Formats: sequence, C-alpha cells, structure tokens
Amino acid sequence: MDTYIEKACEQFRTLLLEQLARTEKMETSSVPKDFTSMEKITIGIVGGDGIGPIIMEQADRLLNKVLAEEIAEGRIVLKKIDGLTIENRMALGKAVPEDVLAEIKSCDVLLKGPTTTPKGGTLESANVTLRRELDLYANVRPVQVPDEGIDWIFYRENTEGEYVLGSRGVEVPGKLSMDFKVTTEPGTRRIAKAAFEYAKANGKGCVAIVTKANIMKKTDGNFTRICHEVAAEYPGIKADDWYIDIMTANLVNKDIRNQFQVFVLPNLYGDIITDEAAEIQGGVGTAGSANMGDQYAMFEAIHGSAPRMIEEGLGDYANPSSIFKAAEMMIRHIGLTAKADRLAAVLEECSEKEKKVVVTGFASGATCKEFADYVMSKL
Ligand code: IPM
Ligand code: MG
Repeated sequence: MDTYIEKACEQFRTLLLEQLARTEKMETSSVPKDFTSMEKITIGIVGGDGIGPIIMEQADRLLNKVLAEEIAEGRIVLKKIDGLTIENRMALGKAVPEDVLAEIKSCDVLLKGPTTTPKGGTLESANVTLRRELDLYANVRPVQVPDEGIDWIFYRENTEGEYVLGSRGVEVPGKLSMDFKVTTEPGTRRIAKAAFEYAKANGKGCVAIVTKANIMKKTDGNFTRICHEVAAEYPGIKADDWYIDIMTANLVNKDIRNQFQVFVLPNLYGDIITDEAAEIQGGVGTAGSANMGDQYAMFEAIHGSAPRMIEEGLGDYANPSSIFKAAEMMIRHIGLTAKADRLAAVLEECSEKEKKVVVTGFASGATCKEFADYVMSKL
C-alpha cells in the first residue's frame, strides 16, 4: 500500500508541475491568425475511423465543388492526411502518430472525420490529443430549430477540465481510483472571452454560465468567478449562473428553452449537453462542431465513428449532415462568408424544407452519397 501512496503522490507532483507550466505558457499571449491576409490556406482532410472515411469522402467532394475557384487559383490547397486510424494508432501505441501530427501541423485548418476512442487502457482519445497539441481551446457548437425560435451556441472549454488528465488518474487496485479535473485561470478566461465576444458581435443579450459549482467548489467555483470577471468587461450582456442538471432539464422544456442564447461551460458538461442539444435539433448526425485556437482550427462532426453502423453493414447510410455543417463553419472561418452562407442555405433547404432525400441511418433511407449528390445538385 505504501508504495502505491508514494507513487501516487509523486505522480500528483508531476501533474501539478506540468499543469502549472501549461498555465504559464497560456499566459504568454499569442496573436490569432488572420486568414483574410493569407496568400495560401492549406486545409487538411483527415478521414478517421468507422463511418469517418465514408462521410469524409462526400465532404471532400463538397469542398472541391464549393471551393473550386480558390483551389484552381492555388489560394486554397486541400491536403489529404492518412494514418489517423484506430489500427495505426493502436499498432504504434500513439494517440496521434508523430508523422500524422506533423502533417496536421503543416495545415492551417482541418476538417476531420470521427475517430474511435479505445475504452480503458491508457491510449488517449485522438480528439483530446489534437485539441491539446493544437491548443484548440474553444469548442463552438451551434444548434438551431428555426420553427421553435431556438438559436443556441455553446462555447465549451476544450482543453482542460476532466479531459486534460483523463488518461492519467491514479488507482489502488481493488480499492479505489481517482481522476483529476483541472481549471486554470487563463484557460477559463480565454473561453469566457470567446463566448462574450461572440455575444457582443452578434447582438446577444445574455450568456448562461453552466457549471456544478455547488459541488465542484474549486474548479467550477473558479470557472464561474472568472466568467463573471470577464462579463464585467461587457456591459449590456447579462451573465446568468446555472447548474448543469437544471440546464439539462431546461433544454427539454419547450416553454423556456428558446430564451437561451449563448452558453459557456467546462469541458465535460459541454460535451454532454451539446449531444442533447443536437438531438433536439434533429439528431447528433446534424450538428457541426468547431475546435478553435489562435493558430489552428479543426472542424468536425459532433458525433462519433459509429462502429455499430459499420458492424451492421450500414456504413453507406451514415448521415453526412453534421460534417457538411462543419465544412460550412470552416469555410466561414477562413473568411469566405458568401460561400458559407450559400452552403448553409442549401443545407437548410435540403434538410429542413424540401427534404427530397432523407438519410435515416437505416437501409430504408437514402445513402450518404445520395444525400451528398442532392446537396451538390443545388450548389
Ligand atoms: C465530442 C466527442 C469527443 C469528446 C470524444 C470523441 C473524445 O464526444 O467531440 O464531443 O468527448 O469530446
Ligand atoms: Mg461528445
């Protein structure tokens, strides 16, 4: 027992020093990349696992069509990146193999298919590794239900909380296990700032700060405090405190849910509630997700790699809507606003208004490629 305790204390010291070093690094400010002044933008296309390569093949076709002029002029380069597969990652024992990471870092933005996260063991989720390696601190997830007046945007902290040390907990076998949750001052300040900046730029009157600060007093308590300190710099925007449990209930309460606008929340709560929100919009297959940092941005579907669909032979019936939405967000992010608006309008028409081709995830519905053809026929 004593050796376990000693080892755990030693590990805790290492983790604490590492996290302090990360905090200090965050404090030295970095200047966000300005895409409008760049001569060439490289977009990395990463396939992923399970249904990933299937939806990404259609996303690739879509990008080639929407960005045809920019690609022809050489202003945009689409770069396919292989090797981020579960087989390769398991074989190398690396969440993101080094050569793949180097290729990814040579791009400016990424469109990434879902990657399978191994259960148990110590191999970290590729998403978590990429978010950390590229310092993608803001996970931005919009959800809209126009008929109901729902227009939500979630600013989920994306690099710390329960995720940063999720593969490095301690265990006394047969007795107990402990994981760590980390909230840093600069890490919270920058996500809060991103949420309030969005609110200000888009005329939103309130931001909901969602935590469980009544229980997680240090981490969530400080998250709330820092969000309020940031809020004080935005007069005219109301900052409301909510607990995650009641907010989860509020999202299914039709009487009040359309009053919410912008949400800011720690990593794990953000993960969970954005799946709920996406389901309200029409399913996790429909919502896009942006992982934003100052130097890189990675866009992806909100859903996972759906290994069950592959096992059941239903991969071709996977819904590409979420990755298409992510592609639209990416195009907007690199400054091609008119093209993004056009794609958004077409996606809305195909998925919500006309609905001539409907993907259900089952063999009775349309295939991924049929839906992509439908979308592309309207562009
Ligand atoms: C998401 C996903 C990821 C997460 C998984 C795949 C690691 O659920 O992007 O929401 O938990 O963040
Ligand atoms: Mg999730």
